[in-house]
Amino acid sequence: MEILHVSAESYPYAKAGGLADVVGALPKYQQQLGHVVKVVVPMHRTKFLYDNEWDTVHKGAIMLASTFLEYTIIKEKTNKLGFDFYCVDIFGLLDRQKVYGYDDDTERFVAFQIAVVDWLSNWQHRPDVVHVHDYHAGLIPFMMRHCYVYNHLAGIPAVLTIHNAQYQGWMGWDKANYLPNWDSWHRGLLEWDNTINPLACAVKCADKVTTVSPSYMEELRYSANGLEKLFEYEKGKCTGILNGIDTLVWNTQTDTYILDNFSAKDVVAGKKLNKKKLCDDFDLDIDKPLFIYIGRLVGEKAAELLPQAIIDCYEKVDSKINFLILGSGDPSVERQLERMRSHFMGYYNSQIGYNEKLAHQMYAGADFLLMPSRVEPCGLNQMYALRYGTIPIVRNTGGLKDTVKDIGEPNGYGINFNEPTVNDIVYSVTRALELYNAPKKMQAIQKQIMAIDNSWDKSAESYIQLYNEVH
Ligand code: GLC
Repeated sequence: MEILHVSAESYPYAKAGGLADVVGALPKYQQQLGHVVKVVVPMHRTKFLYDNEWDTVHKGAIMLASTFLEYTIIKEKTNKLGFDFYCVDIFGLLDRQKVYGYDDDTERFVAFQIAVVDWLSNWQHRPDVVHVHDYHAGLIPFMMRHCYVYNHLAGIPAVLTIHNAQYQGWMGWDKANYLPNWDSWHRGLLEWDNTINPLACAVKCADKVTTVSPSYMEELRYSANGLEKLFEYEKGKCTGILNGIDTLVWNTQTDTYILDNFSAKDVVAGKKLNKKKLCDDFDLDIDKPLFIYIGRLVGEKAAELLPQAIIDCYEKVDSKINFLILGSGDPSVERQLERMRSHFMGYYNSQIGYNEKLAHQMYAGADFLLMPSRVEPCGLNQMYALRYGTIPIVRNTGGLKDTVKDIGEPNGYGINFNEPTVNDIVYSVTRALELYNAPKKMQAIQKQIMAIDNSWDKSAESYIQLYNEVH
């Protein structure tokens, strides 16, 4: 089967979040299953772009409203990612440093999508499925079916995967003329709540819709940032397929980012060496438990609760436990987390920003990972933590609920809580300390979690089955 994935990001080319990890790994595993897999993303000015050689495979031109835009499709020469990897360059619009965050993001992503469809319409053959990810690629199924110049592509099955339904790409109706001439009879497909809603449009036009965990799919029917009714109405074509992790990248035995490689057999000694390095680097106490948080500092992740929760832990639970935070986001949360450094010196530290290498080192050296997310469509960090012998403390939501089982349950190995509140976090830290103070039990759990199989093998196959249903 030939599959074309369309996404805004893909690791290691460009990463802003978990979407990149998935679009970097899933294609590789599908290719290994014997399929022909292609990934296309906008051209971003990243290290990977400059470190690799590219062939120009197509040049074309599109219109965005009345602006004429030339685009170029380039392809990485050596297939080093394990699948065909393409970027779309549009002079003046793409080719920038960051993936998102520009005032003209709407124009950038709409133009990207038109260019992808235009390129596709120039292929000598048709792929078996076009798989679009999140709203940045959400107008593609509509364009393939209802834009006059492209409707010879109408028969190609389209699958949408939603990694995060909070962001929907809303555009005013004044931008309806951005799309190549479309059949106004189908105006309703573009619309939700009086605006053009690319995510809603993709849900309506795709043949199948998936979310990245079964629980998140359920949740969307009552909490979807305004799209609840749509998910209820379209539930027949929606399924949840849990993400996997790239076990080649996330492997404690071969990880070149970490100080000491280890396996489940020597997890205790291995983690200790890695913890020592972390504690030395960040001035923490190696003899005390180490709790980490890695991720965006935003409301969705309940990151604004962290400062107070950490302060309460020091004041009410134990003043001698370590917290290390890595992330960026809300400036006021960043400031609070930075300010706390001088108050809890020797036990607390934070690094504002994103650092892939440090993230690996933190999973390898920490005892517990905290994820209090309000919304977590799947969450990959808890799975990375499990694989690195770090016990996850998670709120019962979305993919966290599907991948972490509380120690109170038979064969449980994590700590789960229900409410995204300071109190629930503090109580969970207390439970974690009890476990830390029972080393035999803690070590047995570390061995157990390292052996859990969250690899892509199963999920990559589930997507293929889904494609077969619409093919
Ligand atoms: C988004 C979600 C996250 C998910 C990731 C990959 O970043 O917030 O929960 O794991 O996409 O699907």
